[in-house]
Amino acid sequence: MPKWLENAVFYEIYPQSFLDTDGDGIGNISGITKKLDYIKELGCNAIWINPCFESPFGDAGYDVSDYKKIAPRYGTNQDMSELFAEAHKRGMHIILDLVPGHTSVEHPWFRESVKAEKNIYSDRYVWTDSIWESPNGMDSLRGISDRDGCCALNFFSHQPALNYGFANPDRPWQMRPEDEGPMATREAIKDIMRFWLKMGCDGFRVDMAGSLVKNDPDGQATVRLWQDFREFLDKEFPEAAMVSEWGEPDKSLMGGFHMDFLLHFGPSHYNDLFRCDEPYFSKRGKGSAKEFIAKYKENYEKTGGRGLICIPSGNHDMDRLARRLDNDELKTAFAFLLSMPGAPFIYYGDEIGMRYVEGLVSKEGGYGRTGSRSPMQWDNTLNCGFSAAAPEKLYIPQDNSSDRPDVLSQMTDENSVYSEVKKLIGIRQSHKALQSMGTVEFISDGYPLIYIRSCDEEKLLIMINPSSEEKTAELSYDIKNIIYGNANIDSGRITIKPCSAVFAEI
Ligand code: NOJ
Repeated sequence: MPKWLENAVFYEIYPQSFLDTDGDGIGNISGITKKLDYIKELGCNAIWINPCFESPFGDAGYDVSDYKKIAPRYGTNQDMSELFAEAHKRGMHIILDLVPGHTSVEHPWFRESVKAEKNIYSDRYVWTDSIWESPNGMDSLRGISDRDGCCALNFFSHQPALNYGFANPDRPWQMRPEDEGPMATREAIKDIMRFWLKMGCDGFRVDMAGSLVKNDPDGQATVRLWQDFREFLDKEFPEAAMVSEWGEPDKSLMGGFHMDFLLHFGPSHYNDLFRCDEPYFSKRGKGSAKEFIAKYKENYEKTGGRGLICIPSGNHDMDRLARRLDNDELKTAFAFLLSMPGAPFIYYGDEIGMRYVEGLVSKEGGYGRTGSRSPMQWDNTLNCGFSAAAPEKLYIPQDNSSDRPDVLSQMTDENSVYSEVKKLIGIRQSHKALQSMGTVEFISDGYPLIYIRSCDEEKLLIMINPSSEEKTAELSYDIKNIIYGNANIDSGRITIKPCSAVFAEI
């Protein structure tokens, strides 16, 4: 694992909505460069940027039409190269979003692939060999090609699936992962990775990484595919960091990823904490973290210290944390997020409790996700300092409530969510046990949540009480020093105030 991941704290940027420096209503790469100091001051030392490549933007850029070109609306490849250099000057790292599962229908590979005459892109996508045969179990594009066949889809109807073969082929058109067509797809993706890594990129977040090989129920063929990518990276770019959107860390880490995300769909119970009717991190104190912790422990044990499970504050696909939690609740949620193992990922704006904007018309395939993608609120000037464009020209309308949070006012308020997040990152960065590789042992999964983080040099007890009631716990540890929060300690009993957290050296 690259050394820098040991204390990495990531900041996720949706480039459309971060900062617009040329007044066209949409964010750009130089806007990110301009705000590097802001991100660094918050305490984040790594950035993940959502796809920023040429695209018709039917899925906000997850439908790439040229993997090697920055979308003109964001700037140029030169701007990206400068962003890498400026980040490195500040000791920061940047990872880009790699979308290997599908392209846009406008990608030149696909345009060649639809042709009736055989060419080098004919096998780049998953095609059946008759328009009358659908790819079993998958949606498909049909009747749009001269070629006789249906093309499997990976996500939306304009995102044809790239061909990495089938683990258990049972139809003549299904290739094996090691056949010529699927091998050529792999090499094409390596070539793209090489292109950006050579320019200064520090790694990739990989979209839908666990579903590349089709008909692979136990995921083992996909694991082997990624092991091949690992070999390539070990040889050419050993410092490149890889994080997967997979949600099964035992498989992804086996495939050579350094990090995997806990997903908000599937079996992780992540939503029990922040995004259900009774979230664990609500003051009502009626939620449950039990199933989340049980699942987390299972995954954590399976990873065997090989890599990191990362818990994001949110992302461009899910509701904003602040849709269900108020500012006090956000602070206890961040006390948890920033004291768990793995690298934390903070979604832009979550550090100020930016809200989900209700009732928006879908933008670029966002649908219900659009409300979590609104432009960053920097200050209280025009468009919250995001852009000089007329407000109706903004990429997505902003939160127009009179008490909307903004960076400037939160930076000067020591009780703000921003100040708490900054403080928590600072504490994490000065205690190795709190960082990515420190171990975790859960003591209680109720209210309060109690766990121990350890490394060779130190042992820390973490207690989080999101509920509005004071909580007392019996402790068999000797508390040496409280490094965050306040608690009353009295003959083996520790009392924690409502809606607060305590970190202590033991
Ligand atoms: C996951 C991405 O995070 C999401 O935004 C996208 O729509 C799908 N993958 C398809 O690429």
